Amino acid sequence: MSLSKRLKMVADMVRCGSRIADIGTDHGYLPAHLTRSGKCPCGIAADLRKGPLENARETLQIYRVEDKVQLRLSDGLDSVLPDECDDIVFAGMGGTLIAELLERTGWVKDKSKRIIVQPMTHSEDVRRFFVNNGFKIIREDACRDDRIYIAICAEYSGETEEKNELYHYIGCHPIEGNEASLNYAKKQIFRLRKRAEALEAANIQSEEKDTLFKILKQVEEAQLWQE
Ligand SMILES: C[S@@+](CC[C@H](N)C(=O)[O-])C[C@H]1O[C@@H](n2cnc3c(N)ncnc32)[C@H](O)[C@@H]1O
Repeated sequence: MSLSKRLKMVADMVRCGSRIADIGTDHGYLPAHLTRSGKCPCGIAADLRKGPLENARETLQIYRVEDKVQLRLSDGLDSVLPDECDDIVFAGMGGTLIAELLERTGWVKDKSKRIIVQPMTHSEDVRRFFVNNGFKIIREDACRDDRIYIAICAEYSGETEEKNELYHYIGCHPIEGNEASLNYAKKQIFRLRKRAEALEAANIQSEEKDTLFKILKQVEEAQLWQE
């Protein structure tokens, strides 16, 4: 079975042999692909709602992996046990929601597990969660399909690294080797610049404005690219 470029990017970050938990699975394509291809021996396809789980059931049946993937009605990781999975995926959700779901699940702070997220918006919230909670972002990637999508892969290290505010917005994207990553970073900075300019034009003094200007200075200092 073939995956979209977006889900393939996510699947590539999953470790061979790991038991996957796909949170917010909807159609269940990711666990179906990973078990069908043999990359993962088994998995959990979890969703908050019954309708998506019915979609997933159909996909698992079509690809004959219903004995390898368990369907689970679950709000985030609430109904998943720590010893049931190794790699945990949150794809196609907003970054703010993903960060909240991770925040309330203490057991994700486990060095043996890998967290792979594919936020559709507010990726800075997930990076901030990782940075502030002892996770190391080990890889990021981007791809262009109908738009640019990103994925972030992190593992718990228990050590807190100092990162500047700019890092929360562009992370460790391979901006020199991947055009989609470069475009993602440019888009993020364009967004920040627009917001800073709007606050400046409205003559609003705020902590947010100060932070935005600090980030834009970090962009200049980092000399990320020449326009
Ligand atoms: C846009 S779909 C993404 C499907 C798939 N992961 C993908 O990337 O193609 C988002 C799914 O997340 C589910 N979802 C939303 N909030 C959730 C939560 N708190 N816990 C589990 N699933 C959730 C929705 O029901 C929906 O099926």
